[in-house]
Amino acid sequence: MSVDNDQPLLKVSGVSKFYGRRPGCLDVSFSVYPGEVLAIVGESGSGKTTLLNCISTRLAPTTGTVEYRMRDGRRGDLYRMSEAERRVLMRTDWGFVHQNPADGLRMTVSAGANVGERLMAIGERHYGNIRETAAGWLERVEIPDDRIDDQPRAFSGGMRQRLQIARNLVTSPRLVFMDEPTGGLDVSVQARLLDLVRGLVNDLGLAAIVVTHDLAVARLLSHRMMVMKEGRVIEQGLTDRVLDDPREPYTQLLVSSILQV
Ligand SMILES: Nc1ncnc2c1ncn2[C@@H]1O[C@H](COP(=O)(O)OP(=O)(O)O)[C@@H](O)[C@H]1O
Ligand SMILES: [Mg+2]
Repeated sequence: MSVDNDQPLLKVSGVSKFYGRRPGCLDVSFSVYPGEVLAIVGESGSGKTTLLNCISTRLAPTTGTVEYRMRDGRRGDLYRMSEAERRVLMRTDWGFVHQNPADGLRMTVSAGANVGERLMAIGERHYGNIRETAAGWLERVEIPDDRIDDQPRAFSGGMRQRLQIARNLVTSPRLVFMDEPTGGLDVSVQARLLDLVRGLVNDLGLAAIVVTHDLAVARLLSHRMMVMKEGRVIEQGLTDRVLDDPREPYTQLLVSSILQV
């Protein structure tokens, strides 16, 4: 590990978001380090998606700052940099995996083009290279090579989600945001997708922030987790510690599945 890995990749300080007078998330602070997977859990309406959107430039917070350490070591405040700089980050250094694959894919262009497009966006121009890299990524996410020219609208839900993951990872991002990545899938498909995501995150040394209402997903994927309730982070710590020995009564309820999440 280089010395740089001691520095957070993302540093969130005092982030709040209000929708009118209704709080979406309140005074949230945390850091994510290179290669670390953080899960954000909590019941529906607790503010997970609001927080994820605030820290990934999709929704400007009402107050607070989000700093990101770029590849060159500079730190940038996400909401102070230019729109162009933010777009470059989104295209290169970051991935965003939506719960609904249709939100993260182009449904009417081929699977190969869905992956290749992200490469072209970072300057790759050689058709043969793009196709070869796309084919390699489809294989990595277990999409048969004879499906490369098919459109994702012809794919199953699990396959679409795997394609969305390939599209996000092809640019070698350092940080990937995921909002309920297995949320819309059948249980049997979920398990396989989780295995795949876990393998890729480990192999690539990715940092990831995964929003989920499913504690099993947090257990399998994350090193650390934060529990949200009514917009606030009420408990955080190493995943095994939080799940095996929850301190807050609310977390104890969540873990014992008494709460409907
Ligand atoms: N666009 C919006 N306008 C108004 N209120 C919103 C909006 N999005 C979310 N909220 C409210 O913010 C709170 C947190 O919602 P959300 O971040 O979607 O939670 P979660 O992802 O944990 O289900 C809820 O009270 C929700 O009703
Ligand atoms: Mg949500």
